Amino acid sequence: MSDISLEELDHVGPATAQKLKEAGYTSVEAIAVSSPAELVASAEIGESTAAKIISAARNAADIGGFETGDLVMERRERVAKLSTGCIEFDEMLGGGVESQAITELYGEFGSGKTQITHQLAVNAQLPEELGGMNGSVVIIDTENTFRPERIKQMVEGAALKHGIELDPEEFLRNIHVARAYNSNHQILLADAASEKATALKDTDRPVKLLIVDSLTAHFRAEYVGRGTLADRQQKLNKHLHDLQRFGDLNNACVVVTNQVMAKPDAFFGDPTRPIGGHIVGHTATFRLYIRKSKGDKRIVKLVDSPCLPDGEAIIAVTTDGLVDG
Ligand code: GTP
Ligand code: MG
Repeated sequence: MSDISLEELDHVGPATAQKLKEAGYTSVEAIAVSSPAELVASAEIGESTAAKIISAARNAADIGGFETGDLVMERRERVAKLSTGCIEFDEMLGGGVESQAITELYGEFGSGKTQITHQLAVNAQLPEELGGMNGSVVIIDTENTFRPERIKQMVEGAALKHGIELDPEEFLRNIHVARAYNSNHQILLADAASEKATALKDTDRPVKLLIVDSLTAHFRAEYVGRGTLADRQQKLNKHLHDLQRFGDLNNACVVVTNQVMAKPDAFFGDPTRPIGGHIVGHTATFRLYIRKSKGDKRIVKLVDSPCLPDGEAIIAVTTDGLVDG
């Protein structure tokens, strides 16, 4: 991020800077990638001023975006894999959930998306030899579905499985949860997550997993029938880019959930291609479609991965956590 403050940009006075910040435009970069219409709406300025501010921000911000191949290589070599705790599931992912990437879990209600995020929040804290990342976890919880009791059960399950002692309280202390009350709040919390990660960066528990559960619920609810689908997609797109950046900067895994309809119908078409999830589809690096099977079994399908063959894995959601199905 550049060190330039909003006030230093041409055409931005103190009052405008204040309004922009309140609307979530806290950095020059955030303004550089925004549209005039967005700024007009959030800072009570005219369209031409908005265009000038964006242009100034683009000049000031470091959004050149080019890096040399050897640097890309260096970054890729640091990619870590977080184990799901299930053999088949890990194999399908080429070893586990990757850092520096967004993994999208999509499926109908009750398919187990939230359960998988809880399990990953436990696994991310395990040592590397047990498939973990020795990390802390940040959760943006939009539906109030984070359950500490469930984390405890899963920690106890992991202790049993690996034959070691684990302190559930300690696991809970390494999970930082924030409720998001609406989509704007959710976007702001991605910034707060970055601050948390910066604060923990040089500790023995850096943030290695960011969970957004659910990524899409607020966006969907707020933009229903408003005829502002393009607006919604643009905001969601920016949010996803923030999340991708978080993953890159912290070499962390980013896992998001997205509820979709199970039954194909006239409006939704192919259930494995969530409508409104188009932009999600293009940004998420790994897309996992989860569906219910018999009893506690769940089928996880890897969809459209650029570098891995499409495949399926069967898991089961048990009291002790996720296990091979
Ligand atoms: P939505 O958020 O509504 O879209 O659903 P989801 O995909 O997040 O589903 P979730 O992960 O909440 O899965 C719920 C299912 O997980 C339940 O129907 C149970 O089958 C299982 N589950 C949840 N809690 C427990 C638990 O404590 N023990 C066991 N054994 N299973 C659980
Ligand atoms: Mg859920």
